[in-house]
Amino acid sequence: MGLTIIVFLALLMGVTGSPNVTIRPEDASADDGLTHSTSFPETSEEMEIVGQQNVSVPEEAFEDVMATGELNPNHYPAQRAAKAVQHYLNTRYGSPYRVLILNRVHSGFAEDVADSGRKYKLEISVQDLISNKTEKCTAEVLFPRGEQQRPPQVQASLEELPNTNTKAEEEALFQKYKTNQSLLTENLPDSYGHIDPDMEPFWHLGSTAASFIMLSESTENTLYNMAQVANVTQLETENDQLKFDYHVLLHDMISQEIIHWKLLFTWSPPEGVKVLQMEKLPHSHHNETPQNNN
Ligand SMILES: *[C@@H]1O[C@H](CO)[C@@H](O)[C@H](O)[C@H]1NC(C)=O
Ligand SMILES: *[C@@H]1O[C@H](CO)[C@@H](O)[C@H](O)[C@H]1NC(C)=O
Ligand SMILES: *[C@@H]1O[C@H](CO)[C@@H](O)[C@H](O)[C@H]1NC(C)=O
Ligand SMILES: *[C@@H]1O[C@H](CO)[C@@H](O)[C@H](O)[C@H]1NC(C)=O
Ligand SMILES: *[C@@H]1O[C@H](CO)[C@@H](O)[C@H](O)[C@H]1NC(C)=O
Repeated sequence: MGLTIIVFLALLMGVTGSPNVTIRPEDASADDGLTHSTSFPETSEEMEIVGQQNVSVPEEAFEDVMATGELNPNHYPAQRAAKAVQHYLNTRYGSPYRVLILNRVHSGFAEDVADSGRKYKLEISVQDLISNKTEKCTAEVLFPRGEQQRPPQVQASLEELPNTNTKAEEEALFQKYKTNQSLLTENLPDSYGHIDPDMEPFWHLGSTAASFIMLSESTENTLYNMAQVANVTQLETENDQLKFDYHVLLHDMISQEIIHWKLLFTWSPPEGVKVLQMEKLPHSHHNETPQNNN
């Protein structure tokens, strides 16, 4: 198992063409990238919040992908369901100054629900990416069964919202860009993994908006992170809502695919993110890296 992980990491670094890790999950995630076979060992690596990979020593563990009953909190089934909770929480609470990420899965339980799908019950901690504050969260995730893929149904209760103190910053950002509709930028982060501090809120806003896509696309077989904002164009403010056209690159850790999406949405402090349109772009290559450094 250790060997598999090392080989995989070598590949990951090989494709990014740089010792700097260029795929930048904004959260703690499970990853071995190779879990199609049901008997494949399920392990998880932890990743540091911004940028660098924090690889924990993988445990020897063999588990069915569709594990039922009590789950190992560090293995894929629990991690993937918990990831859906992360995206759900961002659709509700995300902002340019608050992005919630999965910090840790404490416990997980899965069961088949007759005819409707599989239900996961989870105890997790989520962390605010900006303040680093964590909170406990209890959640249930139902992955519906059926011919047609449907989004998971998530119920989550947070003891408290990590970092509630974002109103003033949100308002200032809103006022700044409401009248000066000039935002036009590319590659957050850039090919050195760097984000201009002025642009950070727009990367966070992109993450929040991308969570709407990632939630609706999540299944028991995916584990999505936003890899990069390829570009962002601010459109004319409408009805007191800032309006943006984002092009985002999502990374599915399981298939190792980078998927391009175009996302049209509005944002204001009182209304939050409202997605107007999301479109999956045909441009989607296996093993492509977020940065084109060749
Ligand atoms: C790695 O990133 C640093 C900045 O974070 C940069 O100075 C360095 O040139 C990068 N190395 C490569 C090989 O891209
Ligand atoms: C990885 O993260 C854990 C906490 O989650 C920390 O204790 C450990 O030191 C980190 N390891 C590295 C190599 O950064
Ligand atoms: C949050 O944690 C990151 C990584 O450990 C650190 O760089 C950052 O300064 C922390 N932010 C705050 C507000 O403590
Ligand atoms: C509008 O914002 C841009 C940066 O987004 C800045 O360069 C420019 O100076 C601003 N213009 C005014 C009139 O504030
Ligand atoms: C945004 O980036 C994508 C991918 O690199 C590109 O196809 C698209 O044309 C860009 N859009 C703008 C407005 O620059």
